[in-house]
Amino acid sequence: MLGEAFEFGFPTRVVYGPGSVDRLGDELRELGAGRPFVLVGPGLAPRGLPGRALAALSEAGLEAAAVVLAQGPAPDVDSAARTAAALAGSRADAVVALGGDGALDEAKAAITLAGSGGDLRALRGTAATSAPLHPLVAIPTAGGGGGEASPHARLRDPASRGVLLLSRRGTCPALAVLDPELGLAESSEATAAGGLDAMAHALEALVSLMAQPFGDALAAAALGELDRWLVPAVRVGSDLEARGHLLVASAMAGAASGAAGTGVVHAMAHALEGRCGLPHAATVGLLLPHGVRYNAARVPGRYLGAARALGLPDGPAEEAAERLARRLEGMAAEGGLPARLRDLGLDRGALAEVAEAALVDASIFSNPRAPVDAGELVALFEGAW
Ligand SMILES: [Fe+2]
Repeated sequence: MLGEAFEFGFPTRVVYGPGSVDRLGDELRELGAGRPFVLVGPGLAPRGLPGRALAALSEAGLEAAAVVLAQGPAPDVDSAARTAAALAGSRADAVVALGGDGALDEAKAAITLAGSGGDLRALRGTAATSAPLHPLVAIPTAGGGGGEASPHARLRDPASRGVLLLSRRGTCPALAVLDPELGLAESSEATAAGGLDAMAHALEALVSLMAQPFGDALAAAALGELDRWLVPAVRVGSDLEARGHLLVASAMAGAASGAAGTGVVHAMAHALEGRCGLPHAATVGLLLPHGVRYNAARVPGRYLGAARALGLPDGPAEEAAERLARRLEGMAAEGGLPARLRDLGLDRGALAEVAEAALVDASIFSNPRAPVDAGELVALFEGAW
């Protein structure tokens, strides 16, 4: 049963391989671009990554229109507006974002704003823009967010103490360069948190009210890969093969959630990030087992499918979600991640206000247990605190 109407499009050309970042210039030429605006995530210079990308440009006879440092892992609307202004003044014909989720989010916001003008707050959501956007090249430096394969971007809005979500056809990258060598310096905690964020994209897409066959296929494949390779990558950070699998699985999970949305876990994490500044991936990883248990009774068959994709031993459908939740908790513990919201420094007194914000977050409307009740949501936060 296919249910509601759906659509699926995947405009991203994916180039995978150790050392593939060295082909950046040739890939840009293939896109018809010659003067990219390069947005670089913070902390990459000591690892030599911006220099490597710029060398790849000059080897192809290209020059960057500008090289700009991104704000950080959680950019806000003001830094995105500054980047958009720099982009608009640069006469660039493409944007390259090299870094983690934050650099990708900032780049998506910048091309949206540079293409439309006005205020980012008025461009939130999925409305189409009339002007063509700069083609975006995403080079994630580690697995996790999957923004290289989805149109979604997330920005903090200090004025509303919330998170602004942007998504439209033109914000999906035209090209994703997946080079596992770039993530070799990542810590085991960051690897675990990113992997669990990717796991959440796949799992929430699989049980989403907007779930659809193309998203399901990508999500199930991503779950199997993440289950197989996350722990090896956490244990041995220099395992290039494990990092490669994580990077590809993260992109597949990103494409799945780009098509089918996420759910209550992402709604809660967005509220915690906007109100209290909690980091996205670690928060999502912590909340994911709680979200699975919360939704379990509503979609037991879907969680059974997920448990099978993970290769967990078969059993009654109503117990699949619990087995899955325990497996996720084991992965988080393996990565040394905090198990409670209080461990992330959250004050219990903030929970009621955070629950109010989560209740109206865009991600909650695709959650399969719907509508999410305000009291239930507070109880979920309390349970995770
Ligand atoms: Fe996420």
